[in-house]
Amino acid sequence: MKKIVVIGGGTMGLDIAQTFAKKGYDVVVRDINDAIIQASEARLNKGLDKLVSKGKLDEAGKKAITDKMTFTTDLNLAADADLVVEAAIENLDIKKSIFAELDKICKPETILASNTSSISITAIAAATQRPDKFIGMHFFNPATVMKLVEVIRGAHTSDETCKTITELAVAIGKEPVEVNEAPGFVVNKILIPMINEACDLLYTGVASAEGIDTAMKLGANHPMGPLALGDLVGLDVCLAIMDTLYHETGDPKYRASLLMRKMVRAGKLGRKTGIGFFDYRK
Ligand code: NAI
Repeated sequence: MKKIVVIGGGTMGLDIAQTFAKKGYDVVVRDINDAIIQASEARLNKGLDKLVSKGKLDEAGKKAITDKMTFTTDLNLAADADLVVEAAIENLDIKKSIFAELDKICKPETILASNTSSISITAIAAATQRPDKFIGMHFFNPATVMKLVEVIRGAHTSDETCKTITELAVAIGKEPVEVNEAPGFVVNKILIPMINEACDLLYTGVASAEGIDTAMKLGANHPMGPLALGDLVGLDVCLAIMDTLYHETGDPKYRASLLMRKMVRAGKLGRKTGIGFFDYRK
């Protein structure tokens, strides 16, 4: 495993790419247009500069990471990749079209992985001719820090693919947990409905946003309140996961909060847009 292509330079893609680059892999980050890819590279530099200013990284360490990373809009750079990790938006049709294209471009041995939070690995893999080399590699936010990687087998994922990705997760300092395919896998099946409940509590006026988060931090010993966590994950991502849980199970307990949908429609997605349940613009 030498060259890794990450599709999507957003919240997750950039951090996943940085995590691989820090461990010495050659990483290509691909996004859809020049403005987005330049913004992604600028975010990387800003984040690394912050670490340097805090003394957590030196200039040589920064250079070692940036030298390993290429930012592009050209998907053809995936032709000789050993692994592609897709972190584009949480939408089955978009993911399928990305992988159908990658399947044609990549060499036959390339492993294709999705960082999807909730969508069926088998369903995405069906867009390719290599479902045995298709797998879920699910990082957590922020991917540079969070230890867990859920390794998700689709119906046709081979043992060899699963072993390679599990070993890779260990090699980059993560703790892999093998998970069978199910909507939301393990963490998001539990976590996102909790954020959704917090959203409903706010909508029905049971407590203020600060009150709900303080209650969960002090009462459940969570390091972060559910609404601040929703803002960190991105409310569009939370909504997409709730919709997947609801549609896949048919269970009304997974109905997305009306407030969550309203906020997504208003573009109040959390930290990435500067405002969600809390205001990050100051
Ligand atoms: P984001 O909205 O921050 O970034 C998505 C990026 O993908 C954007 O830069 C967008 O321009 C790009 N993109 C869209 N279509 C593309 C294409 N065809 N080719 C290349 N790039 C494309 O979203 P985020 O939060 O990074 O989520 C990405 C994926 O990771 C989703 O599947 C999400 O469910 C999953 N995920 C998100 C987590 C979170 O906490 N936000 C945690 C773990 C997984």
